[in-house]
Amino acid sequence: MPKAARFSRYGGPEVLTVEEVPLPEPGRGQVRVAVAAAGVNAIDWKIRSGFFAGSDAPDEPQGTGFDLAGTVDAVGEGVRSLRPGTAVFGKAATGAVATHALADADGLVAKPDWLSFPLAAGLPVVAETAYRTLRDLGLRAGHTLLIHAVSGGVGLVAAQLALSRGATVIGTASRGHHDFLTELGVRPVEYGEGLLERVRGVTDSVDLVLDAAGRDVLGLSVELTGDPDRVLTIADGNAGAHGVRFSGGGPDAAPLPEVFAEVLPMLESGALRLPIQQTFPLERIADAHRLSEDGHGRGKIVIEVG
Ligand SMILES: NC(=O)c1ccc[n+]([C@@H]2O[C@H](COP(=O)([O-])OP(=O)(O)OC[C@H]3O[C@@H](n4cnc5c(N)ncnc54)[C@H](OP(=O)(O)O)[C@@H]3O)[C@@H](O)[C@H]2O)c1
Repeated sequence: MPKAARFSRYGGPEVLTVEEVPLPEPGRGQVRVAVAAAGVNAIDWKIRSGFFAGSDAPDEPQGTGFDLAGTVDAVGEGVRSLRPGTAVFGKAATGAVATHALADADGLVAKPDWLSFPLAAGLPVVAETAYRTLRDLGLRAGHTLLIHAVSGGVGLVAAQLALSRGATVIGTASRGHHDFLTELGVRPVEYGEGLLERVRGVTDSVDLVLDAAGRDVLGLSVELTGDPDRVLTIADGNAGAHGVRFSGGGPDAAPLPEVFAEVLPMLESGALRLPIQQTFPLERIADAHRLSEDGHGRGKIVIEVG
C-alpha cells in the first residue's frame, strides 16, 4: 500500500504522520514517480508550521516536500518525454515525502547513473534557487559576491557556481564550517555583531550580496555594496524596507534543464560538492524537520524512501 507523510493541522513536527494513501493517478502532463529519496527544505517546515497560512488547519490533509528522486512508474496523457522505468529527479507536484508522488513532466530531469538517488533528491530547490539568484544579481567573472548563510544548501551551491564563473566569494557561517568553506575556495567570516567590519577586513569592495540567512543583514549589505539593486534576498520578508529585491521563484524560476546543464557536469567532475548532512527513513520525517528547523547544518537533509 502506498504511504505518504502528511499533516491535517499546522504546528510543530509532531503534526506529521505517515499514513497509507491511495495510489495517486497522474493527470495530463504529469507522471507518477516511485520515490527513492526526497529532499527536505526550510520551506517544508515553514508550510507545516502554518507560517504562510491564514487558518489553523488546511482544508484537507497535506503532503510535505518538493524535492524528489526516483523512477517513473506511470505517465499521464500527453507525456512524450518520459516513460516508465526512467530514473528522474526534480520537483514534485504532490508531497515528495511518500512512496509515490506526482510531478509535472517538465519539472523533472533524467538522473544520470553516477548520481545517487539521495544526492539527486537534495538538489532541485537549492540548485534552482542558487542559479536563479546569481542570474538575477547579474553575477559576472571578477565580481566579489558576499553570501549570507553560505554553509546552507542554497549558499553552498551558489558559492561554487559563482567561483566556477570566476567570482570571488565571501560567505558568512559559524566557525565550525570555516575549514570546509576555505577548502571550497570561499573566504569565510563569522556572522553576528561586527560583521560589516569583518567583511571589510577580508575585501576592499563587495559588488553583490545574496542573503540566504534572513537575519536582519540587508542594511549592512546595502552599505557594503552602496546600492540596494546589488543585493538580493531569498529569506527576508522585510526586503522592501531596504529597497532590496526578494526572489521567491514562482514565475521567475529557472527551468531545471537549464540549471542542471551547468550543475550536473560540475557535480560529476567534483567541481561542485553538496554534502548530505543526514538521511532519515520515511517514518522519521518529523525528526528530519526538527533538524532542518534547528538551522545550523551543512548541506542537505534527505529522506530515503525506497
Ligand atoms: N525564496 C526562495 O526562492 C527560497 C528558496 C530556497 C530557500 N529559501 C530560504 O532560504 C533560506 C536558506 O535556505 P537553505 O536551504 O540554504 O537552508 P539550510 O540548508 O537549512 O541552511 C541554513 C544555514 O543557515 C545558516 N545560519 C543560521 N543562522 C545564521 C545567521 N544568523 N547568519 C548566517 N547564517 C546563518 C546555518 O549556518 P551555521 O551552521 O553556520 O549557523 C545553515 O548552514 C531559508 O530561509 C529558506 O526558506 C528561499
